[in-house]
Amino acid sequence: PFVVTENCIKCKYTDCVEVCPVDCFHEGPNFLVIDPDECIDCTLCEPECPIGAIFPEDDVPAGQEAFVELNAELSKSWPVITVRKEPMADAGEWEGKTGKLPLLER
Ligand code: SF4
Ligand code: F3S
Repeated sequence: PFVVTENCIKCKYTDCVEVCPVDCFHEGPNFLVIDPDECIDCTLCEPECPIGAIFPEDDVPAGQEAFVELNAELSKSWPVITVRKEPMADAGEWEGKTGKLPLLER
């Protein structure tokens, strides 16, 4: 499956959700995740994210490994999102910043 990683936190551009053929994106307060049990590895979402937050599970960047389990865990409780919405208010300031994991809201 594909995995949403740290750069999405506090940005949440949501371009990714509209291309998923199996509706496996789930939305939290300031982050999105992919349900690994539903993702069919179609690859369509990866290039849609304007800040490169989506990776194949086997190619998650070093230091981002925790996001594999976070996508699996949080997708079970967060609601599905299929329609694009406005990014978070300060998305431009937060994109590309590292160390955002502690800011993840559940
Ligand atoms: Fe959906 Fe395809 Fe992305 Fe998996 S790879 S989350 S199926 S768009
Ligand atoms: Fe997040 Fe990128 Fe989708 S910022 S909401 S993974 S388009």
